[in-house]
Amino acid sequence: MLSDKVTTLSWIYQLYRLGQTIDLRDKPQQAQHAVLRHIVEGFGADCGSLALVDEDGQHLNIVAGIGVPDHVIGSKIEPGGGILGWVVKEGQALLLNGDVSSDPRFKLSEPRNESVRPRSAMCWPLTIESRVIGALSINRHDDDEPYADADLESGAVVVSLVSVVIENTRLHIDQQQRIAMLSKMNDEIRRANKRLEDAQNQLLQSEKMATIGQLAAGVAHEINNPVGYINSNLGSLQKYIKDMFTMLDAYEQAEPLLTASPETMRNIRVLKDKLDIGYLKEDVVALMSESQEGIARVKKIVQDLKDFSHVDEAEWQWTDIRKGLDSTLNIVWNEIKYKAEVVKEYGDLPEVECLPSQLNQVFMNLLVNAAHAIEDKGIIFIRSGHENDRVWIEIADSGKGIPPENLNRIFDPFFTTKPVGKGTGLGLSLSYSIIQKHHGRINVSSEVGVGTIFRVYLPVKQPEKKAGQ
Ligand SMILES: Nc1ncnc2c1ncn2[C@@H]1O[C@H](COP(=O)(O)OP(=O)(O)OP(=O)(O)O)[C@@H](O)[C@H]1O
Ligand SMILES: [Mg+2]
Repeated sequence: MLSDKVTTLSWIYQLYRLGQTIDLRDKPQQAQHAVLRHIVEGFGADCGSLALVDEDGQHLNIVAGIGVPDHVIGSKIEPGGGILGWVVKEGQALLLNGDVSSDPRFKLSEPRNESVRPRSAMCWPLTIESRVIGALSINRHDDDEPYADADLESGAVVVSLVSVVIENTRLHIDQQQRIAMLSKMNDEIRRANKRLEDAQNQLLQSEKMATIGQLAAGVAHEINNPVGYINSNLGSLQKYIKDMFTMLDAYEQAEPLLTASPETMRNIRVLKDKLDIGYLKEDVVALMSESQEGIARVKKIVQDLKDFSHVDEAEWQWTDIRKGLDSTLNIVWNEIKYKAEVVKEYGDLPEVECLPSQLNQVFMNLLVNAAHAIEDKGIIFIRSGHENDRVWIEIADSGKGIPPENLNRIFDPFFTTKPVGKGTGLGLSLSYSIIQKHHGRINVSSEVGVGTIFRVYLPVKQPEKKAGQ
């Protein structure tokens, strides 16, 4: 006879609690083992096994075992194979007394060791809504009383509770997996969205910069012609004026010969005084040299615009970065000149393989940011140096600094602390991606009220496959 234990309310309650108290998400095997142990003990059995149907419904996995060899736990059973397989396939409970090794129903391949041969066994299918999810068997192989049909029947009721506990475990795991999968998908969608957004922002900024570049190139082209002929005309004019002054000097020397015509002489003197010829002669020279200086400056601006836009140089090329820094500084000089003294501390630099127009965009943004950070009057250092196979360029300002909580946001697209219309918040994000394209790095260190240092590191030579892209 079956012990009364399994029919007591407290035993059934304990079984129910086992499925609840053990953390099913992290320790499903432990929960299954505890349930099996409870059953084995409750039924006064010596050993037992719990097998569950695979997700694909093809195999039975032994997920827990008590009093069975270690290798059995975790092993698979072919459909219909063994006692457990038969029970799952037929969906019927089995009571077995005596030697079953030659029972043709179970296709037991290995002859059983005499010492572990069961004398009395019960095996129940585990079902949920008429679906078989596994099987549970318990065995006695000592000299105890063999199980009877009544035990099998009362056991079936208990085992239905086990089915619920086990299915609950499975649902929990399933749910956890789904949640993990959904959150992974969610993360991926978020990352993809972020990448898309970044790409769009960069495109936007690149287009903005390309437009500025084209505009600069257009202006440079338009100004180039008139500047060319003004420059050459000024050269001719200077020569003509010199000639005319030589002529005038000659006439002046001839003035004393005009004594025969005192009136002409007086008229000449009056005119000379009136026109202030002495001053005119001096001033013409000064005006000429000022004009020439002016036109030289215009020529330089045109050259800077050309250098900045690099319209026809979209290729990777070997360049002296300091030239790019200088021409960019000239372009943004108007933004800086009233705000800051600029101190250049250029170290020795080798030529660097780069996209010069894009690097100029980086320098332009760093310089303008530095000027904007200076509220009243300050100083901007432009430094450069060279170490091993990389160069560095530093823009340091004595501006208001960046609060620590903003430091990891400044490279985000659209992050700006500037008023509407003054900043789009794209400068640093674009600079970052340009530097990345160059396989470089940008570091920032800042102290509120003291200033900010941006340092850009660039490899002298690009890795093979990137060069020439
Ligand atoms: N040198 C600096 N000193 C202090 N704050 C700075 C400095 N450089 C950048 N920042 C901060 O980082 C923010 C982002 O800079 P970023 O260049 O990306 O955009 P922006 O200058 O605001 O706008 P724009 O798109 O016109 O460049 C700035 O708004 C500013 O708050
Ligand atoms: Mg900026």
